[in-house]
Amino acid sequence: MDANRRIERTLDNAVAHAEAPGAPPRLAEAIRYGVFPGGHRIRPRLCLSVARACGDDDPVGADAAAAAIELLHCASLVHDDLPCFDDAPMRRQKPSVHAAFGEPLAVLTGDALIVLAFETLARGAARHPARLASLVGLVARAVGSPVGIVAGQAWESELTVGLTEYQQAKTGALFAAATVTGAAAAGAPPLPWRLLGECLGEAYQVADDLSDVACRQEEIGKPVGRDATLGRPNAAALLGVGGAMARLRHLVAEAVEVIPPCPGAEVLRAEIVAQTRLFLPPSLASEKLFALA
Ligand code: IPE
Ligand code: IPE
Ligand code: MG
Ligand code: MG
Repeated sequence: MDANRRIERTLDNAVAHAEAPGAPPRLAEAIRYGVFPGGHRIRPRLCLSVARACGDDDPVGADAAAAAIELLHCASLVHDDLPCFDDAPMRRQKPSVHAAFGEPLAVLTGDALIVLAFETLARGAARHPARLASLVGLVARAVGSPVGIVAGQAWESELTVGLTEYQQAKTGALFAAATVTGAAAAGAPPLPWRLLGECLGEAYQVADDLSDVACRQEEIGKPVGRDATLGRPNAAALLGVGGAMARLRHLVAEAVEVIPPCPGAEVLRAEIVAQTRLFLPPSLASEKLFALA
């Protein structure tokens, strides 16, 4: 089965658990709305690509890790869009969860997705208890504090933060979780895979920052210009569009360099290059601006 089908099926099974009889119907609806239809699904694809490069000897465990990471990503978007964070009325070309269901249900949807992520991981990766223990730790690190998404979002409440530190915590950490859990789910040592995820995550956030300053809402399906309005550190604002493009190219080149030796390294390299070409939306991804090495 191809990676996209594996991801959608595992997410669907996970969300179905939150829709069991007795669930508050509007919460159940909001949870599904926050996960489907998906966006780029780039993190779970990265997780499965790494698992495959490492032999993918427990596909159910790898699917669980990939789905858990995507559920946590969806949770982070639901909370990120709330009025107390980025106050974004649109996400993935439709009203954001709080705009559609109200703030209380959006807070609870994000909470429920976080819990569902760990439940999905526990259920799917139970065949290998030692791997499961490692997976839980790796995923928790990526979403909590001091270095995960919670920390990244919390830096917005501090007076100063460095761009890289902020981007690594709010975005790099979950990409790193995608690569390390892909390896761990396949029984390979996870830590050599961290740098690849960190490079890709930071690159992805630089691309998102470029979209925020240079794209239109119709193209990217979410508000633009938010970072300037809210005073958030933004790579394109701090480095200029050309400087941010150069940083993006540098990070992508570094990512390709740091793929650890593994049975499927060549296929993985090709997949990563193909994925990174999609980091920027079409209006920004012209050869002239973003010619990859
Ligand atoms: C948006 O991530 C938030 C960032 C970390 C830049 P995505 O661009 O992966 O969001 P979806 O899942 O495709 O909507
Ligand atoms: C991305 O934050 C990281 C999250 C924790 C959601 P942003 O605020 O930069 O992402 P977008 O641009 O709203 O997707
Ligand atoms: Mg934000
Ligand atoms: Mg935002």
